[in-house]
Amino acid sequence: MFNNKNILITGGTGSFGKKFVSYLLSNYSPKKIIIYSRDELKQFEMQQHYDAGCMRYFIGDVRDKDRLITAIKDVDYVVHAAALKQVPAAEYNPNECIKTNINGAQNVIDACIVNNVSRVIALSTDKAANPVNLYGATKLASDKLFVAANNISGASGPRFSVVRYGNVVGSRGSVVPFYRKLLAEGRQALPVTHPEMTRFWITLDEGVKFVVDNFSRMQGGEIFVPKIPSIRIVDLVEAMSGKREFDIIGIRPGEKLHEVMVPEEMAHHSIEFDNHFVIAPAITFFDKNVDYFKNRLDESGNSVEDKFEYHSGKNPHFLSVDELRELDKITL
Ligand SMILES: NC(=O)c1ccc[n+]([C@@H]2O[C@H](COP(=O)([O-])OP(=O)(O)OC[C@H]3O[C@@H](n4cnc5c(N)ncnc54)[C@H](OP(=O)(O)O)[C@@H]3O)[C@@H](O)[C@H]2O)c1
Repeated sequence: MFNNKNILITGGTGSFGKKFVSYLLSNYSPKKIIIYSRDELKQFEMQQHYDAGCMRYFIGDVRDKDRLITAIKDVDYVVHAAALKQVPAAEYNPNECIKTNINGAQNVIDACIVNNVSRVIALSTDKAANPVNLYGATKLASDKLFVAANNISGASGPRFSVVRYGNVVGSRGSVVPFYRKLLAEGRQALPVTHPEMTRFWITLDEGVKFVVDNFSRMQGGEIFVPKIPSIRIVDLVEAMSGKREFDIIGIRPGEKLHEVMVPEEMAHHSIEFDNHFVIAPAITFFDKNVDYFKNRLDESGNSVEDKFEYHSGKNPHFLSVDELRELDKITL
């Protein structure tokens, strides 16, 4: 799928971007992989490890549509991973988060349409489902923009889809590196916001593979949600520290006790496949007749039940302390 193709990744120097590039370089022979992001130092450091002849490094901001239009010229596939994603920073600087996550999303869409890109996947988060913080709300708005973009791209224009998943184990700013740092500093009891807190859990490798597969599955307009396990934060504490001792510090502003990836209110649009769900668009695209029950990989899905909700606290699959311990070893 990616052989001899030009691929651009906004936010390509981030946790996802680097893993995605590794995957492409190990499994395909792309013509060009373009990294699009703002910070020259992160790009310089990435270049030390990723210096294959097909790599291109573009400094640019997703807030700058003209620059995006130039960068996306002749590109076949785009992954939109650039985002401001720290919940407290978004609460404190709301307009900055809106400019990057919402206006930036529309700029990416416009630049893809101008350049007649073939397929585009935007990364989303469980925090976009029934959002309670600004980060989640901006990602929900971005999801809506990408789904609706199929309406303005025309019958033969780009196809836009969204991939939504939960916490990525070990990504920048996430709980695993935070706990690891505290343990290295000799902290005895790790902080836990609430003893019942649960989260969806996905490794970066799984996230990358899911995005790659969805480039083959997508017809445009889907929000793809992988079936992934949940964890109890107190189990993570035990797996990482070796004891079930923690300090309860209280739920932080903008934080939920559990996360949701498919809200109950979207059940009537949601389709279950073997290893994922699809939330089909709530709007009909006037010039694209799409059957979301069958995808381009010929996989078939079924409607979920009326009150179905994909919820981290009600997930049938929880990782045990032992499984988390194994995962912790792998991601060290
Ligand atoms: N990590 C998770 O747990 C998780 C879970 C679910 C979904 N996601 C989603 O997955 C995506 C990627 O996450 P990640 O973990 O890879 O994030 P990350 O490590 O923080 O990387 C973010 C990337 O975006 C770039 N960026 C930020 N603002 C930009 C702008 N205005 N213009 C251009 N580039 C910009 C950053 O580089 P510069 O600062 O140099 O510009 C960096 O390359 C995000 O959309 C996030 O919402 C992440």
